[in-house]
Amino acid sequence: MSNRIYLYPLVIRIWHFLNALAIVLLIFTGLSIQYSNPEYPFMRFDLAIIIHNYAGVFLVVNYLLFLGANIATGNRKHYKIIVKGFISRLFVQARFYSFGIFKGEKPPFPISQQNKFNPLQQLSYVAIMFVFLPLMIITGIALLYPELIPAKIFGIGGVLFTDLIHIVSGFFISIFLLIHLYFVTIGKTPLKNFKSIINGYHEENH
Ligand code: HEM
Repeated sequence: MSNRIYLYPLVIRIWHFLNALAIVLLIFTGLSIQYSNPEYPFMRFDLAIIIHNYAGVFLVVNYLLFLGANIATGNRKHYKIIVKGFISRLFVQARFYSFGIFKGEKPPFPISQQNKFNPLQQLSYVAIMFVFLPLMIITGIALLYPELIPAKIFGIGGVLFTDLIHIVSGFFISIFLLIHLYFVTIGKTPLKNFKSIINGYHEENH
């Protein structure tokens, strides 16, 4: 028997698709800008900058859609971390991912309409959506208007400091994406979670 739970409202799925597209473009063009070399052009430098800037502005607008959609659909409840006992729940989930899953144990925090994310998912989604993406967005906007950045921040050049935060956030988002892609393949079958983020339904087989 198959049990279907509706977990991903349409507007969240639209945001997620556009966000993934923008982030992949930003990573490719960002790497190309950072490691630009006129002798071995991965992509033309001026073109990489234009695409990076447009994709960045698009990402900001789409981030506003994420915030609005979370308020409108009530999806925000899944991003609220209950601090009491959170660390031990993280350990229980980490133990499951390290051992239990390979021994065919049942997940310690089964997916439900009330609890869509397990504790590790919750922590990583909150960190990406409410720490690293905002940091990347704020520093990205500042770098579009470098004349507004103070000459010195914490004793080093303001633009350099802003750029460092931008690159470090981009690095963490890239690492998140790799880990995210791995974890979404370890559903009931490797493609099951991908289907969920397309049609909105999480399916469980009994
Ligand atoms: C590029 C390819 C990507 C694929 C194939 C993908 C796939 C998925 C899938 C299958 C889910 C549902 C299962 C789950 O909750 O784990 C999901 C959820 C999610 N993904 Fe991705 N993802 C991608 C990129 C990203 C990026 C770049 C970000 C953020 C920077 C991101 C953030 C999220 C968040 C926050 C959720 C939970 C959404 C919610 O239900 O509120 N994803 N993703």
